[in-house]
Amino acid sequence: MTIHIGAKSGDIAETVLLPGDPYRAKWAAKTYLSNPKMVNNVRGMLGFTGIYRGEQVTIQGSGMGMPSLSIYVNELIRDYDAKTLIRIGSCGGMQPQVKIRDIILAMTASALSTPSSSIFKELNFAPCADYGLLSAAATAAAHKGSTTHVGGIYSSDAFYDERSDLNEQMTRHGLLAVEMEAAELYNLAARYSRRALAVLTVSDHLQTGEALPAEQREKSFGNMVEIALEAAFS
Ligand code: HPA
Repeated sequence: MTIHIGAKSGDIAETVLLPGDPYRAKWAAKTYLSNPKMVNNVRGMLGFTGIYRGEQVTIQGSGMGMPSLSIYVNELIRDYDAKTLIRIGSCGGMQPQVKIRDIILAMTASALSTPSSSIFKELNFAPCADYGLLSAAATAAAHKGSTTHVGGIYSSDAFYDERSDLNEQMTRHGLLAVEMEAAELYNLAARYSRRALAVLTVSDHLQTGEALPAEQREKSFGNMVEIALEAAFS
């Protein structure tokens, strides 16, 4: 047990999928894992452990934003020894070729600031994904026939972001999408020598204003879960 996770040691698998939304953790565990058992409900941040193709997997909600994710990932790594951590979540497209429902594999995650920024002092550390996971996810996504983009993303501290000037520069420099968690996940994975990746579904688009209709979110989310699970064990 930790401050924020009620699981007993041994109840958390080495492989952890991290959706922001705890109800998505519940849905994904019940849909893709056999024998899923709830291992956390502290603060309603649900976590489940079950079996995928003979391998133990935990799906734990991370909450929204890097400060929340940082709490769960610190405890998952330091107290439960999680080794492979894959964020599954939604993102906003930032390039014209990136369409609603496309999959984004985040090779790097830029940020104005993260909960780890203070330890880097003047260094602009470049948070990046684990290459093995990234290439396995790209292969899995290709097998599924999902339109997939691999590249840099932006991890923002604000969903209602007033920095349109910054968005323009990021689009100009090729960043594919915006979300709110991956940069800190990659920082922590680097610090503790763990494998991390963010597999994202484009749910809305900053330039076109398009958004995925609520009834289509589940199916699109499912592709992302399958890609993450296949990448973890390939
Ligand atoms: N901004 C930040 N995070 C997001 C977005 C967005 O537009 N869409 C999904 N997650």
